[in-house]
This record gives sequence, structure tokens and C-alpha cells, in this order.
Amino acid sequence: MRKIVAILMVLLLSAFFVGSCKKSGGTLIGIAMPETHVLRWVKDGASLQKEAEGKGYRAEVQYGSADQVEQNKQIQSFLTQGAKVLIVGCINEGVASVIAEAGRDGVAVIAYDRIISNSADYDYYITFNNFKVGQLQGQSIVNGLNLTAASASAPKYITLFAGSPTDGNAFFFYDGAMSILNPYIDSGVLKVIGPYPRTSDDRDTFMRIATLGWEADRAKQRMENLLNGDARNVTLNAILAPNDTLARAILEACRADAKYPAGRLPITSGQDAEYDSAESIKRGDQYSTVFKDTAMLAQAAIILADQILNNQPINIPGAVLATGDLARIGDTGMKVVNAYLLDPILVTRDNLNVMIDAGFYDDRLDRGILLLN
Ligand code: BGC
Repeated sequence: MRKIVAILMVLLLSAFFVGSCKKSGGTLIGIAMPETHVLRWVKDGASLQKEAEGKGYRAEVQYGSADQVEQNKQIQSFLTQGAKVLIVGCINEGVASVIAEAGRDGVAVIAYDRIISNSADYDYYITFNNFKVGQLQGQSIVNGLNLTAASASAPKYITLFAGSPTDGNAFFFYDGAMSILNPYIDSGVLKVIGPYPRTSDDRDTFMRIATLGWEADRAKQRMENLLNGDARNVTLNAILAPNDTLARAILEACRADAKYPAGRLPITSGQDAEYDSAESIKRGDQYSTVFKDTAMLAQAAIILADQILNNQPINIPGAVLATGDLARIGDTGMKVVNAYLLDPILVTRDNLNVMIDAGFYDDRLDRGILLLN
């Protein structure tokens, strides 16, 4: 009897072993995305998985619910499962402890879209030119207000919003935008209503315009407060909004104010080319967005992972290694990692087709084709 049980056990174990071997064919890439309340990350996760599997890797995606403690657990689980590469869009610098663990295990880490600050335990970062994202936002406001033709005797009024101070990108977006807007503020044709940090280095003032966790409700609330406070006696002509999710929340607050009926909303920037914002731009509500083709970013990240795993020289089509002034995009505060940059594109009502042409709305294709074309 005992012999039969033993044989059965061996059979069972070998069946399990064969099964798990089959399941584990291919090197594991662990993909940790920060949140789902900003839609792009859901697309990023799906694109990364598709690209990784397309190259024969096993890929697992986890979303961190904007909670670094939760994301750290997810990353730890990737390490336990034997992941060889981690692709991490982090929430804040609290990720550094698990990145150090990965470093000790010899696991390569790629910071994805957002830098991993205060860490010297990784070498690669793939993102967009985030300073340029901000410049495009600033430029769209210059264009939308026709500021080059405006005069200080009839100034335009703007209010400023920034992204989450826990996200290194937020500083680059803001500084890029202000590098374009500050000259108009200096000459008096553009007046800031509410707090005005000239750059993000003015950290105390920056914190007053920042939006913790990129949460739409916080931005909406702050806009409501402005409308009832600093902006009560003026009509705003423009709003610097750092991304689409926040732009739509801010515009919602404006729409509830009788001073801003449809067609008279402030010229408002954005970023991410979210479908709902493309529709809003088409309607003439939001003014602009910045298209960052995240499908291309995901493809680039997997090419990078593949080259690292195969000890090949890094050569990523469509991405350039940040050098000179731009190299600071890769500054973690403890070292400068290799930052590979993709190019963002400014989108207004005139060129909404670039997202369609890129197949960016594939997951909602019918609505995209119907409403945007
Ligand atoms: C990304 C943006 C995004 C924001 C909020 C930033 O790090 O670069 O694309 O809108 O996070 O999720």
C-alpha cells in the first residue's frame, strides 16, 4: 500500500513539475505600473505585456493603486518568482528599497516613464522628453491666446497647476512650460492669478499649485477655491494643466461657474491624448493635449530589456540617449542613469488625426473613428 502511495506521489509530483515547467517557459519580465486612475497606465501595462510576449518572454503586469507599499509587495513577488528584468513605473521614491533588493539579486531594473529617485541601484530609464512635454504645453497656451500679438495694456490672465510632487516628471513638465511662459509674464502681457512659482525650484510656492497623487478631485477642488477666491474678479483666459485627467476636472469646475459658458472656457493644456480629452478638444472645451505614444514607449522598453538580457549594445529605434542639458532627466539624486527619450507631439483641434493614424485608440476603435474623424 505504502509503495502504491509512494508511486502515486512520484507520478503526481512529476506531473506537477512538467506542468510548471511548461508554464514557466521563457524568462520572466515583471511589469509594475503605478495606478489605474490615469488611464494611460492601463494601456502601458497591456502594451508592455504584448511586446514582451511577442519576443518570447513571460510577462506579468501589476498595478499599484497609487500606493507605494502595495507596489513594493508586487515587485517583491516578481523577485520571488525569479524575474530577470523589472520594468517599473513607480509611485514615489519609497520604491528604492525594493530596487536595491533587485540590484542585490542581479535583476536589471528599467525605470519606466518616471524616474526612480534616490537610488543608485539601477542603470536604465526610458521615458519621453519631459521638459519638451512642458514646453509644448506652454507653447499651446502662447498660440491659443495669441500672446505674441497681445499687449500689456490688455493682459491675459492665467492660473497654474502642476502634477504630483511625488513624481519627478511633474517638475520637468512645469519647468518646460514656464520656460515658454515666463517671458510673457515678465513683459506683462500674461498675468498669473493665484500662486506663481517662477520655476519648480521655488518649492514652497510649487507645492501650492501641485496636485498630490495626480488626483482629479484635488485639482477640481483647487479650481473651485480659485474661482471663489483669487480669480473671483477676473475672467481667466488660460489654465496650465499638467495632464488630461486634471484638465477635464479643472474644466468641470469652470463650467459650473456662470462666467465660463460653453465656448468661453479658458485655453487649457493637457497631456496623454486620453480619448475623452480628444473628444473635449474636438468640442472646443480643452484646448490642447500632448500625445505621447505609449505603445512606442512600451515597445522601446522591451527592446531595451531584450538587449540588456542578451548583453547587446543598447540601440533603441525612435529613442535617443539624453545628453548635455537633457541628461539631468536621468539624475536620480544619487547617480545619473542612462535616460532614453522619445519625442512628444503637441495636439490641438487641427491635428487630432495623429492619434488615429498611430492606431492609439485601437481599444476603442469604433468610437474613435466615429467621433474624431
Ligand atoms: C506621466 C503622465 C501622467 C501622470 C499621471 C506622469 O508621470 O508621465 O503621462 O499623466 O504621471 O499618471
